[in-house]
Amino acid sequence: MARKGERVVHMGRPISFPVALLLVAALVGFVRRCDGGVTSSFVRKAEKTISMPMDSDVFRVPPGYNAPQQVHITQGNHVGSAMIISWVTLDEPGSSIVLYGTEKDMLDSHAEGRYNQYTFYNYTSGYIHHCTIRRLKHDTKYYYSVGIGLTARTFWFTTPPSVGPDVPYTFGVIGDLGQTYDSNATLTHYESNPEAQAMLFVGDLSYADNYPYHDNVRWDTWGRFVERSTAYQPWIWTVGNHELDFAPELGENTPFKPYRHRYHVPYRASGSTSPFWYSIKRGSAYIIVLASYSAYGMYTPQYSWLEEELPKVNRSETPWLIVLVHSPWYNSYKYHYMEGETMRVMFESWLVQNKVDVVFSGHVHAYERSHRVSNIAYNIVNGKCQPVYDESAPVYITIGDGGNIEGLANEMTEPQPSYSAFREASFGHAIFKIKNRTHAYYAWHRNHDGNAVAADSVWFHNRCWKSADKNECSV
Ligand SMILES: *[C@@H]1O[C@H](CO)[C@@H](O)[C@H](O)[C@H]1NC(C)=O
Ligand SMILES: *[C@@H]1O[C@H](CO)[C@@H](O)[C@H](O)[C@H]1NC(C)=O
Ligand SMILES: *[C@@H]1O[C@H](CO)[C@@H](O)[C@H](O)[C@H]1NC(C)=O
Ligand SMILES: *[C@@H]1O[C@H](CO)[C@@H](O)[C@H](O)[C@H]1NC(C)=O
Ligand SMILES: [Fe+2]
Repeated sequence: MARKGERVVHMGRPISFPVALLLVAALVGFVRRCDGGVTSSFVRKAEKTISMPMDSDVFRVPPGYNAPQQVHITQGNHVGSAMIISWVTLDEPGSSIVLYGTEKDMLDSHAEGRYNQYTFYNYTSGYIHHCTIRRLKHDTKYYYSVGIGLTARTFWFTTPPSVGPDVPYTFGVIGDLGQTYDSNATLTHYESNPEAQAMLFVGDLSYADNYPYHDNVRWDTWGRFVERSTAYQPWIWTVGNHELDFAPELGENTPFKPYRHRYHVPYRASGSTSPFWYSIKRGSAYIIVLASYSAYGMYTPQYSWLEEELPKVNRSETPWLIVLVHSPWYNSYKYHYMEGETMRVMFESWLVQNKVDVVFSGHVHAYERSHRVSNIAYNIVNGKCQPVYDESAPVYITIGDGGNIEGLANEMTEPQPSYSAFREASFGHAIFKIKNRTHAYYAWHRNHDGNAVAADSVWFHNRCWKSADKNECSV
């Protein structure tokens, strides 16, 4: 930058200060290619976000004595050839056995799981069963049944193709869902897309902690509400602040107690020591799940795990590297402003070095997509403290707009920062559709439109495979 009174030499000719200033301004404008972000003009009809009442159809208990309820599945090992099946029985423990097979009328395999139970203040949970079924064939439809006799219930899922660079695969993305009429609209909208095969859920599930005494009955109603999707396709879980359920005033001092009992994930398969951070491979994607509410400072277990984890990702095997973390690192809403900053400072440079394709977050109850930017050059004294366009940086997407009881985050910082490409305060969900190693199509759908309308969409070009014949990340 030219100092006042100095003359700047440009192409061998001395030029005056105002001209230099113009040049610098033009240069800055050019370098910061991300200018011109869009704040959507869509104005959502103002409505209150209301809890679905206890007697809602979506909370109905399946009929029959001790019938299994709240059935949900998630990937059960690192490569997708196992599935964790979970459900709850209320009257008695019953059986923890899952019967399964590839033909509906011949469930000729079985596996036995275990159940647990917990108390929270004056609430006692049902019997929460978890059973991992293993050695599944890839790309195969399985039927499975839980429960005994007349109240046994049968569901199905399709395993992913074996891990490989050109496996097309379509993920749904939802965050901060809760259990309001809007939550139901988001889920219904998501279900209307027949192509979605698995859900990337970016945290904040039931919002039970917003009800009096963290009424854990709302964990049960949530489990029954989402069963229509979670029983049939794996939801990849991320932990959010509403999973903390830390309530010393109620004598509940163990963070994550309900979540940890109810939602199991295959964390050991990726060498993690905690269910709150882990990784899986699915098709052509490598998914790393991080924990905003567990320690991530230097020398902490999560820090050490991520440091060792990132170099393990082989982009020739899984071209798409996706990170899920609840609290966003780039957020231009006034809500939760800069809450993700400390984690960004710790981990952002690793994500850029390892050319992560996209980071999905929730927490802020609205939608935002960033340009490819990084903010990793700053070192306290060099003044390089602005996000800049960075070819190697991920796109950051905030999608905490599932529709929970806390309502929309509709106040934005102004002007829209240059790193922010698109933002809108509406409820919705997204689809991340991997086509092959070079291309993925991404679309965000607001609930107020038919599913055919994409309110925000963009083609993703893989960070390592700029063309189909060269992995630029391999050494
Ligand atoms: C939730 O959505 C489903 C599917 O659209 C619908 O059948 C059901 O009646 C809705 N329930 C409530 C409480 O809105
Ligand atoms: C738990 O305690 C609260 C507050 O005293 C009460 O309203 C609620 O009914 C109790 N629930 C159970 C299951 O006892
Ligand atoms: C990466 O994956 C490719 C394709 O599966 C394989 O050929 C290669 O050996 C792997 N590289 C390493 C270092 O494991
Ligand atoms: C990858 O998918 C994109 C988008 O569908 C397509 O244009 C491109 O030709 C595909 N690449 C290969 C090598 O098939
Ligand atoms: Fe949150």
